Amino acid sequence: MVKMKLFTVGPVACRPEVLKEMSIQMFSHRSAEYVELHNDTVHRLQKFLETKNQVFLLPSSSTGMMEASVRNCVKKKVLCCICGEFGRRFAQVAKANGKEVVELEVPLGEAVTPELLEEALRKNPDVEAVTIIYSETSTGVLNPLPELTKVAKEHGKLTLVDAVSAMGGVELKIDEWEIDVCFAGSQKCFGIPPGLTVASVSQLALEISEKMENKGWYFDFKLYEKYQQRGNTPTTPPIPQIAALRKELEIIEKEGGKTARLELYRKRFEKIVKGVKDLGLSLFPKPGFESPTVVCVNAPAGMTGHDVYNRMRERGFELAKGYRQLGERTFRIGNMGYITFDDIEEMLKALAEVIGARR
Ligand SMILES: Cc1ncc(COP(=O)(O)O)c(C=O)c1O
Repeated sequence: MVKMKLFTVGPVACRPEVLKEMSIQMFSHRSAEYVELHNDTVHRLQKFLETKNQVFLLPSSSTGMMEASVRNCVKKKVLCCICGEFGRRFAQVAKANGKEVVELEVPLGEAVTPELLEEALRKNPDVEAVTIIYSETSTGVLNPLPELTKVAKEHGKLTLVDAVSAMGGVELKIDEWEIDVCFAGSQKCFGIPPGLTVASVSQLALEISEKMENKGWYFDFKLYEKYQQRGNTPTTPPIPQIAALRKELEIIEKEGGKTARLELYRKRFEKIVKGVKDLGLSLFPKPGFESPTVVCVNAPAGMTGHDVYNRMRERGFELAKGYRQLGERTFRIGNMGYITFDDIEEMLKALAEVIGARR
């Protein structure tokens, strides 16, 4: 297999220590060893996410939590904020589960603003919840999450937040920002292989779930809460990913905790953006709304995003293609997981060669 330097948007490169941790001998998820691992990981996550809410560990990819949040928390109607493919997916998942969906959609590259949400909620006072994508991976847009949840809460709505490409790399304060359900997959900013989803669930969301009919069994929040009290999960969890996540959280702590972690992501982002701009390229998102974890770049004149992606691969760098209808117009540089500053230097040098620019 060709060894590529990964600047993907997930799954991302993992630290060697984390990969090593995954090779531990297995134990039963009903054993004392598992309970210790589970409780320790949950406590570390609660600290990192600044939340007193339950933090569940789920054996699924992130889309499973889109489904879980609408099934547990929405009886009839939900408002979905859409600024790209994943906002659209949340709406599709809600519809596929029989919910009525109000779509609040903005053009690609733009963020959903609190003013737009205010207007949409005034027009649709009967929605029970609002879905928001924090970092829209398809366009590289970071939505103004605390402002959006504030508006949703002023209207008394539940807040269901996809923080899939944000949690662990961008500021996120679950309790202060009043987020009822907030989830992310292991394979993004935490830098762990895929297969595990982390989700915080508020007391209010649990109370609503308790009375919800037809919420299914596999992702029933109340069942998760019951097992959580025993340091466990209702079904077999992905133990290697959980062990790896605990290891990553231990390392984050040793390296200076959340502040140092976010600073690292910010510095890497700034280095990537400066390098890209020095090459005469521009970013796709509206200025001021760029996600620090997904740098979505407009393709240079005379080249498509696919061309850039393919030529970078020939040089040993795996970026991410532009998403679906943005495939021709953009390419993306992931800033998640195990990436060093030297890796960024090398990647930018290769990018300069690819677009024929001089640095
Ligand atoms: C913002 C966002 N939400 C949801 C998903 C879906 O995740 P999964 O394919 O792991 O279910 C992704 C995947 O890239 C994402 O970036």
